[in-house]
Amino acid sequence: MRLAVWDPDEPFRRWRDALMQHAKEIGLAIDVIDAPSDPDAQAEFALVWRPDPDWLAGQLGLRAVFNLGAGVDAIAPALHRLHPGVPLIRLEDAGMGRQMADYVAEGVLHAYRRMTDYAAQQAKARWEPLPLPPRASFTVGFLGLGQMGAAAARRVAAMDFPILACSRSGQSRFAAELGCAIYALDRLDEFLAQTRVLVVLLPLTADTRGLLDYAALSRLPQGAHLINASRGAVINQADLLDLLHGGHLASALLDVFATEPLPAADALWSHPRVRVTPHVAAQTLVGPSAAQVMRKIAAIERGEKPGGVVDMRLGY
Ligand code: GLV
Repeated sequence: MRLAVWDPDEPFRRWRDALMQHAKEIGLAIDVIDAPSDPDAQAEFALVWRPDPDWLAGQLGLRAVFNLGAGVDAIAPALHRLHPGVPLIRLEDAGMGRQMADYVAEGVLHAYRRMTDYAAQQAKARWEPLPLPPRASFTVGFLGLGQMGAAAARRVAAMDFPILACSRSGQSRFAAELGCAIYALDRLDEFLAQTRVLVVLLPLTADTRGLLDYAALSRLPQGAHLINASRGAVINQADLLDLLHGGHLASALLDVFATEPLPAADALWSHPRVRVTPHVAAQTLVGPSAAQVMRKIAAIERGEKPGGVVDMRLGY
């Protein structure tokens, strides 16, 4: 069988070596090809990150497409249009959960320990201890409780902060495990009103695009903090800046943006209460991802449905 790889961010050789090694371990005979350098070769399986739509359109024998990340917004609509019956399968954790937990934990502690206030004081050589909020009142709200949300929420709960969640359906197998209250998206306002640090880990879909606008973000209590590590377009960035300027929001830690790279002229770069990272919160790790993809291909070969198949109606 043939597996095509399309990943502009990683040398093909790394994928090929890791995929071949795992294929050998589980006894799969597989030919791995570099799709950009051999675009006419037809493959049964594809591993892709932001593939060229023309290449995708020309692949007529696909049995499944694996997305090299947790978020599928960049590929799901095109694949569904071009090859309606072909399943799209996302990475499930594959080493990204721990990275996400690190990123969010740093953001929560930075907010709780008032590091943005201290940075402002340092800029003025001002020595002034500030009171800490009571920990039990410093509720961290997870908007989105999938694999990434759950990994981050587990870590934050282990740091003894109260946690709360909100998701499209108001149901997540992780809510019971975490023992936290979970709201459906139609009760977003109630969820936001109780949240001191909002952690956005929602997929980008037709329902979540622009969800966090001025009105929604204003429901957060005065002085709340925002962390976004899923997709930039879930938030209206102009509204976010207004709320930071007005002081309603105390800080934002942003890893993702509506346009990436974030344009040099964007006011978010220089806002003193904003920290920007270049979409690195949870990066795809070649080794664990290759192992997971090979296990899933083996499952498909046995006639089973692997985990992580995207529901095209929901878009994630
Ligand atoms: C990265 O953004 C991913 O979706 O995995």
